[in-house]
Amino acid sequence: MKLPVKIFLIGFMGSGKSTLAKKLANRINYSFLDLDEEIERIEKRSVAEIFEKEGESYFRELETNLLNKLKTFETNQIIALGGGTPCFNNNMELIHQIGFSVYLKYNSGILANRLLNSKTKRPLIANKNPEELKAFIDFLLQEREQFYLKANLIIEGTNITTKQVIDLLFQNIEQ
Ligand code: S3P
Repeated sequence: MKLPVKIFLIGFMGSGKSTLAKKLANRINYSFLDLDEEIERIEKRSVAEIFEKEGESYFRELETNLLNKLKTFETNQIIALGGGTPCFNNNMELIHQIGFSVYLKYNSGILANRLLNSKTKRPLIANKNPEELKAFIDFLLQEREQFYLKANLIIEGTNITTKQVIDLLFQNIEQ
């Protein structure tokens, strides 16, 4: 059985999409792409700076434009999307025109802990204290899960191994 050419990892900030995507790509010999990093490379500035200078809608346009470009690349790729990518501009539809999606699912308590310990700069949660962060995640995850839950495959993130994810991928692809 053959895996889809493009596999998208989706999920909330801090769910480890990029880390898992890199490991998966290594194991199945796909190339790895991180949508945020690619946007930063093209724009020659950080996501935080884009949010600050141009606003969120501009960033959302960049995400959708880049997704559209991926349509034309035939390369086998595992793509880690930003936490908000599936939730704007009908991007879930676009994602499913291009490939297969995997939602890396965690509850808001675990996400809050992971994000409190993360060193990555994320404009949406910068300057929030632990209580504000937890409340914000509760609110935003509830709003976003309707999009994440459209994924082709939903994986509970806690304690999952790369090998288990690969097995699940093979079990869930339709030939
Ligand atoms: C965002 C998540 C970030 C990045 C941007 C906005 C979001 O990506 O795209 O800061 O809206 O959830 P990660 O999920 O990789 O942190």
